[in-house]
Amino acid sequence: MINSKYLYPEAIQQESIDIPRDIHIYFKTRPLQFYGAKEPARIHVPLPREGSKKSVLAVTYGNAEGNNPINVPREYFNDPKLMNDFEEYPLQNLSNEDQKIAETVAIAAIRKLKGPGRYSIRRREYMINTSTMPIRVYFEEEGKKERNPIYIKRPDLTRLMGKWLYDIISGHPRRAYAFNRAVFIEEAVPGSVLSKLDERELLKNRDYREGVVRASVHASFLDIPDINNKRNRIVSENFSTLLFDFNIMLMGIGRNLEGKVILNPLLDRYQELHGNKYHWFLPPYVNDVLVDEKRKVAERVKAEEDRFFDMIRLMEDVADMTQMTYRYKARVKYDSESLEDFFRKKVLEYSKAR
Ligand SMILES: Nc1ncnc2c1ncn2[C@@H]1O[C@H](COP(=O)(O)OP(=O)(O)O)[C@@H](O)[C@H]1O
Ligand SMILES: [Mg+2]
Repeated sequence: MINSKYLYPEAIQQESIDIPRDIHIYFKTRPLQFYGAKEPARIHVPLPREGSKKSVLAVTYGNAEGNNPINVPREYFNDPKLMNDFEEYPLQNLSNEDQKIAETVAIAAIRKLKGPGRYSIRRREYMINTSTMPIRVYFEEEGKKERNPIYIKRPDLTRLMGKWLYDIISGHPRRAYAFNRAVFIEEAVPGSVLSKLDERELLKNRDYREGVVRASVHASFLDIPDINNKRNRIVSENFSTLLFDFNIMLMGIGRNLEGKVILNPLLDRYQELHGNKYHWFLPPYVNDVLVDEKRKVAERVKAEEDRFFDMIRLMEDVADMTQMTYRYKARVKYDSESLEDFFRKKVLEYSKAR
């Protein structure tokens, strides 16, 4: 299988990960209510025992890809033009039988997120020229086309924990997700990925500009470095900007070429690119929205303080893809005693924003 893994360390390409016991228990015992769902769902999906008959049909990234997938042609990863233009590639298996089994797995993933129902698969696609090649699955329910696909991703603790934190801080409706040690599955965030839109048009819209500033606060709160990548932002129908790609977060504050600390890389970029033309991104204009969103983030954390800091404490001894634990990173990258200390300070600072 050819993919774009050359850019990233092995750690985020794994088929299976270890999940610390306390994290496992945390998610096992906390069902969550998601947008549009009839009842709360469990986020942890148990896996059948390895080697058992059922294990080929278990919801895992490998099973959703299936046996003998047809390779993505090599040129899609080498040609800069193709790389920019193609974000997905049909996922098919060589034999009908392999295809059927993989689709059965995809249906099990849909059931997990959407609840019981009669589902059929319309198509599966690789999201190419990404670091992890998620699988997108379009489907029908009772023969009716469902607009919102699901994504089946490689297992990743940072993604999981990041989504949990983002759902608390962003105030956006929560979409279902689930995981086990071999998969992370999630409903699509409804809207369109920014890379497929004409941003020059969008920028004329006040709601869009305001949404970018609000999203920039979320991204800087969680310190997500690849937020300037347009493929990592969804623009919803009401022009909000929503985030979903959390497998790289808390990587340490960045600096520009002159060594200046950049606390808000997204806003910094918009100021640099559009500050002259769209002065709404410049300080006096942008400040109200920035301050308002910072305070809101602090309020949202306070409203779900236990849930937020329970997760932060669970993260302390987890290592990210650089093999450093979050506690260690808090010390060396953020000059804090612990991740909890870092976020306590940050919430306090945001609550006093002005
Ligand atoms: N929850 C989601 N909602 C909408 N689109 C998504 C979602 N997850 C992934 N995608 C799409 O799949 C692409 C790759 O997913 P992403 O999580 O960014 O993977 P990677 O971490 O490898 O960059 C994104 O650019 C986006 O188009
Ligand atoms: Mg991405």
